[in-house]
Amino acid sequence: MITAATSRTEVIRWMEDFVGEKFSELLKTVEESWQPADLLPDATLETFFDEVKELRERARDLSYDLLAVLVGDTITEEALPTYESWLMTIKGLPQDPDSPWMKWNRGWTAEENRHGDALNRYLYLSGRINMREMEASTQYLLADGFDLQTDMDPYRSFVYTSFQETATNISHRRVAQIAKKQGDNMLAKLCGHVAADEARHAKAYKAFVSKIFEADPNEMMLAFEDMMRKKIVMPAHYMRELGVDIGKTFGHFTDAAQRIGVYTSADYTDILEGLIDEWKIEALTDLNEAGERARDYVMALPARLKRVAERMKAPSLEYKFRWIA
Ligand SMILES: [Fe+2]
Ligand SMILES: [Fe+2]
Repeated sequence: MITAATSRTEVIRWMEDFVGEKFSELLKTVEESWQPADLLPDATLETFFDEVKELRERARDLSYDLLAVLVGDTITEEALPTYESWLMTIKGLPQDPDSPWMKWNRGWTAEENRHGDALNRYLYLSGRINMREMEASTQYLLADGFDLQTDMDPYRSFVYTSFQETATNISHRRVAQIAKKQGDNMLAKLCGHVAADEARHAKAYKAFVSKIFEADPNEMMLAFEDMMRKKIVMPAHYMRELGVDIGKTFGHFTDAAQRIGVYTSADYTDILEGLIDEWKIEALTDLNEAGERARDYVMALPARLKRVAERMKAPSLEYKFRWIA
């Protein structure tokens, strides 16, 4: 029985069966999963070199900003070990390997692992990337880690993952659309597959938060507000290149994404509005005074963010990434 005095640990325990259901519903088995090899030239075949040649011809026409965004996305995906270990540090998650929570974490990681592999292999074959520079950035990002400001709190962490998986769905989907427009259907298909995974993950994390709202609306509301006050930072916010100060590369990467419309400040606001809808924030009952104030803050935030975005200029600064050959 969930009561007002219920702790986060109890809520997490109470949710185990629900997480198990979402695991079966929203993660795919290995047998039904796509693999990077399904989408890229097969090196065991005689036709390999011709296929690679065609891949390189298509890649030649990809724009500079699109390539920059692709490399940044790849590095972000390649830092998966950081995200998995972060998930494991969330307070109150049962450590029993048979717990649905642990099965979720492992299954999610297994799906995500294909994203970096697929993108990395494509970029290598494209011939347009300085692979060593990209790899060094990945190593930096893993070694530097990140600070998502979730304080290892499950409520804050699942607000974060709900937001972030939605954002990655949007950006991979947009990269797919742009790649198609620029004539690279193979890349479009690959990013489409990644985007579809991210959509399922987002759906699951949003469902986790909805479930928490059922059990502990006030605390969940406060956690949502806190994350939105702190702003959701991208997991690759410490991204950097060899010989470049930390912080600089990431700014140029997000500028490129904004410029080509892969991920913009309008998307940030749209995601927030989506979450407010999904979690039926307006209709929440059983909030105390602090909870009501938190709700007021979150409900008013999209309009505020839109006003700020209107005053922002599209970033035009040209930047030469070390990643691009
Ligand atoms: Fe991913
Ligand atoms: Fe993801």
